[in-house]
Amino acid sequence: MSPSLPYVLILYYSRYGATRALAEHMVAGVESLTGISARLRTVPSVSPTCEAVEPEIPEEGAVYASLDDLRDCAGLALGSPTRFGNMASSLKHFLDGTAELWMNGTLIDKPATAFTSTSSLHGGQETTLITMLMPLLHQGMVYAGLPYSETALFRTASGGTPYGTSHLAGSRSDNPIDENERQLAYAQGRRLARLAKALYSMRESS
Ligand SMILES: Cc1cc2nc3c(=O)[nH]c(=O)nc-3n(C[C@H](O)[C@H](O)[C@H](O)COP(=O)(O)O)c2cc1C
Repeated sequence: MSPSLPYVLILYYSRYGATRALAEHMVAGVESLTGISARLRTVPSVSPTCEAVEPEIPEEGAVYASLDDLRDCAGLALGSPTRFGNMASSLKHFLDGTAELWMNGTLIDKPATAFTSTSSLHGGQETTLITMLMPLLHQGMVYAGLPYSETALFRTASGGTPYGTSHLAGSRSDNPIDENERQLAYAQGRRLARLAKALYSMRESS
């Protein structure tokens, strides 16, 4: 059963914390609107050892997402650090377990977006965002990027793309989120929340 107050699921994987920091700014954007909330969730790391399992509660960051978190959301933001220009296997592993939602069309007509972090400027921000776009389209979700009315897209010399926001973490992964990146993450969260509210009302009334 869907909760009465719609929520946007912000679902990320982060090994060193940069993608998590972006996710937290997106939460602020979602929660700048009334009538909708943000639910922040992460996924466990995939281990090369099949027997290894993560502790039930992560040591830091958000709690792990369940299929129910995804099933009942009114909108979805997916975040992943780049892995050779692709999303991280840990997030992909979670998405590969969502066939039941795909078969039932559960996510059709819900808005979605993506965000990423890379160590180098041309190290695959856009390509990583596009790898996250593909499963969202297969699920029937409505993808929302970032329009250039967000003027930080013109100013940024680090992260931020029309495909979704991003962060340039640097080779030591120690760049803080800069002001343009923060503004874009906030705007993306806020836009997703607006669309989630509108499409939620549309689905409820049809
Ligand atoms: C296996 C592996 C592959 C990576 N591939 C890239 C890459 O293609 N381009 C890049 O700029 N950074 C690459 N990185 C760096 C991370 O994407 C980058 O440090 C990111 O900001 C980490 O985000 P996090 O702090 O949320 O874990 C790679 C890191 C690992 C471990």
